[in-house]
Parts: sequence; structure tokens; C-alpha cells
Amino acid sequence: VLGGCLSVVVLGASGDLAKKKTFPAIFNLYKQGFLPDELHIFGYARSKLSNEELHEKLRGYLKTDRTDPSKGPEDAIKQFFNKVTYIQGAYDEDEGYVKLNEEVSRHEHERSDDGTPTRRLFYLALPPTVYPVASKRIQKHCMNQRGWTRVIVEKPFGKDLESSDELSSELGALFTEDQLYRIDHYLGKELVQNLLVMRFANRFFVPIWNRDNIASVQIVFKEDFGTEGRGGYFDQYGIIRDIIQNHLVQVLCLVAMEKPVSLDPEHIRDEKVKVLQCIQPIKDEDVVIGQYEGYKDDPTVPKDSFTPTFASVVLRINNERWDGVPFIMKAGKALDSRKAEIRVQFKDAPGDIFKCKKQGRNEFVMRLQPKEAMYMKLTVKEPGLDMKTTQSELDMSYHQRYQDIVIPEAYERLLLDTIRGDQQHFVRRDELRVAWEIFTPLLHRIDAGKLKVMSYKEGSRGPDEADDLNARVGYQRTAGY
Ligand code: BG6
Repeated sequence: VLGGCLSVVVLGASGDLAKKKTFPAIFNLYKQGFLPDELHIFGYARSKLSNEELHEKLRGYLKTDRTDPSKGPEDAIKQFFNKVTYIQGAYDEDEGYVKLNEEVSRHEHERSDDGTPTRRLFYLALPPTVYPVASKRIQKHCMNQRGWTRVIVEKPFGKDLESSDELSSELGALFTEDQLYRIDHYLGKELVQNLLVMRFANRFFVPIWNRDNIASVQIVFKEDFGTEGRGGYFDQYGIIRDIIQNHLVQVLCLVAMEKPVSLDPEHIRDEKVKVLQCIQPIKDEDVVIGQYEGYKDDPTVPKDSFTPTFASVVLRINNERWDGVPFIMKAGKALDSRKAEIRVQFKDAPGDIFKCKKQGRNEFVMRLQPKEAMYMKLTVKEPGLDMKTTQSELDMSYHQRYQDIVIPEAYERLLLDTIRGDQQHFVRRDELRVAWEIFTPLLHRIDAGKLKVMSYKEGSRGPDEADDLNARVGYQRTAGY
């Protein structure tokens, strides 16, 4: 438990992100006792709302299943709401921020007059177009004079290298890098956080994690629903900007980077940047893009949209470890299942005496969601009198192995990291820049209509061309994939 005083200000307090992710994450941390007693939460937004009206909007999103059994679930919510104050104000006018600062300062002084440092965390649950105007005013009126101020922002950070650079410069002129926390919520997922441990703490993996043994790597994101009400936002960005350039690239970094000097956040992020710098320009023949058939039925999507809702992009890393190994990044909406996983496929064992190649290759799979699991696909002898081989799995499913443990939500973990000042799981400015460098030329070609957009059926595996691409780069489909 932290001592001292903590103020959390959620800008965009009545929006979707705040309701669905930010407030529930703060509530869970509060409930589990991770936050100081002297905690003040401020919701800031444009609408005219009373404290009670904001609480009502949030209530349905706060889950009480993990509450201390000695207290009723409602107690926890009631106590939490006692700490949540609403402040109305515009994002682009000084007045609201002056009022906000007065309120925050008043609470801080009321409770923390013993000289302990105060902490202010601003969570910008706002569209990024508003980040500069809001940040300017936070900087002008709301900086903490008696301790730290930190600011959380989330993608989309621009639409390409140029616009992202512009946003980075605007924010960089207002806050130092150690005040800015760029969330990529995939870095808060349990299995993503396990990647470095798996790779660098296990002798099983250390010597074989390279081009001599690995045939391909796939990082896959699938959703079994379409854009559903988010078409207006999504259509401006498309699946590459929404998922691949950030979430999947972050996962790729952890799969492919060299061992960091230590677990110091700067050492880790130095290695991530290095591996990103080794990625080669993307060729059109390494890309398949698609759009599901009902996408344009969404009233918020323009009827002539050719925005991709599916993409498969092969990235090639030109370094000692990975030269020649395709990294297939695949993401799609309205597919046959909801799943995010990493599939590392190994080369065939040399000199096959079992004639078993058709069984499929060894694979190491990390399923990030749903039902977190890690498993290895192996060839084994089929039990019985005959000498036949079959493919089986060494399976570590989290819900079986860790029955009593509730896996924390990504946002919960990342908020706590911010409060603790640990930037390991946040994206550094130079990392963001290289990720944009990789994808910007391809995105510009797609935006100019230079790549054919394949059509695919809702609930399917995506365009057939994506499976053809996988086969072309040497991925062998195994059972269950
Ligand atoms: C968001 C994307 O960043 O991630 C959404 O904007 C997507 O389009 C979501 O649905 C997926 O997150 P998760 O944690 O459910 O895989």
C-alpha cells in the first residue's frame, strides 16, 4: 500500500474508455488495497453532471466479485464513490482547469498537511486530437508543486510518421519523457509480461530461439465481431493502425529482441528499439488486406470505404538471429473466433526415420486470450502396440494450473505501474517513431488505393489469400490452427 496522497484525474470521464477500462481499473486497485487511503479521484468532462449522476454512469461497470468478503460488495462501491468527484469543464478553455486545480489542491491540503509528497496522475481518456489542447492547460494550471505529475495517453498516436511526430513534439514540449506514460494495453496482458521470462529464464528456449531452429513466427489477433458502433473511428484508421502497428508490434519486439542488459525499463526499451530498426521495408507481395462483407452496412461507415478490417503482413528482421524467418502479423475483425496468440513454428527435426512429417511441426504457442495458456505441440508415439506417431501437446493452461489466482486486467496493472513510476511496460517516444517508420509507406499505399482489398465473409478465417501467403512463406498449418 502506498502512503501519502494520490489524486487521479480522469479527463473524458463519461466516455467509453473511462467507463469500461479506466474507472474499473482504479476501482479494482482500490478494492485490493493497492492505493493510499488518501486517494481522490476526479472525473472531468464537458457534460453537466452531478457527482451522483457520474456515479450512476459508472456503477454498472464496477465489478464486485473480488471484494473482501467481510464487506458487502455495495460497501466497496459506496466507499469508492465517496472519493470520486465530478468537475465540469471544456477541454480547450482555461477556466475548467483552474477550477480543477483548485479542487485537487483543496483535497490535497485538507488531508495531507503533514508534508508527505502528493502525487497527481492525469488519465487522458480523450480522443488524441484533444491531447494537445488539454495537455497545454494541464501544464499551465494543474502541475503538482509538492510531488510528481504523470500523464497517461493512449493510441492512436497520429495516423502516420509525420502526424505522430507532430503529436510527440507537442506533448514533448509540455512534459518530460518520464512524465508521459503511453499505454499499449497489450503490454499489460499476463502472457505478454511472461514473454521475457519464458525466453531468458529457460534453458529449453535460450539456445534454440533463432533462425537455425525456428521456421516462422505468427502473431495473431482475431475478433469474432465487427466494428459495432465504432465504425466512425475505425474507418479512419483501419486494422493496421488499430492493432498491428501497436499491439502486435509490441508483442513482436518481446518475441524477437535480444536479451536486455537488465530489467531496467530503459535497457528493455533500448533492445525493443534495436530490433524494430532491423525490420525491412514491407513489400506489397508480403501483404494481404481484406474487408468483411457487412462492414459498410454500419451507418457510421462511408458507403465507398475501402478501409481494411483484416490484414496479414509479413515482417522480415534483418539481423543475426532472425534473417530469413518470416514474422507473420495477422489481425482481423468479424472472423471465426476471438483469439490472440503467438505461434512459434520450429523446423523439422533432421533425418526423419519415423516418416512423420505429416503430423505437423513442433510449435510453441502462447495464447494471450481468451483462457491464457502456453502449449507445445510435439510428435509422440501413439499409445498402443503399433509404432505410430501422433501429435500431442504439453499444455499449461492457466485456469488449471493457477486455479485460485485471478489474472489482473491489463489496465489495472498499467495504472499501478504508472503510480509506481515503472515505465517498462509503456512505449517510449523513439519506439513509437520506429513503429511508424515501418508501416507508414505501406499505409500510404493502402490509403491511395494501390493494394487490392479482398472481401471475406463475416465469421470466416478471413480472405483465402492470407492462408496462401502463409503457405508461401513456409508456414505449415498444424491441427487446431
Ligand atoms: C483496441 C482496439 O486497442 O484493442 C480495438 O482499438 C480492439 O479495436 C481492442 O477491439 C482489443 O483489445 P483486447 O484486449 O480485447 O484484445
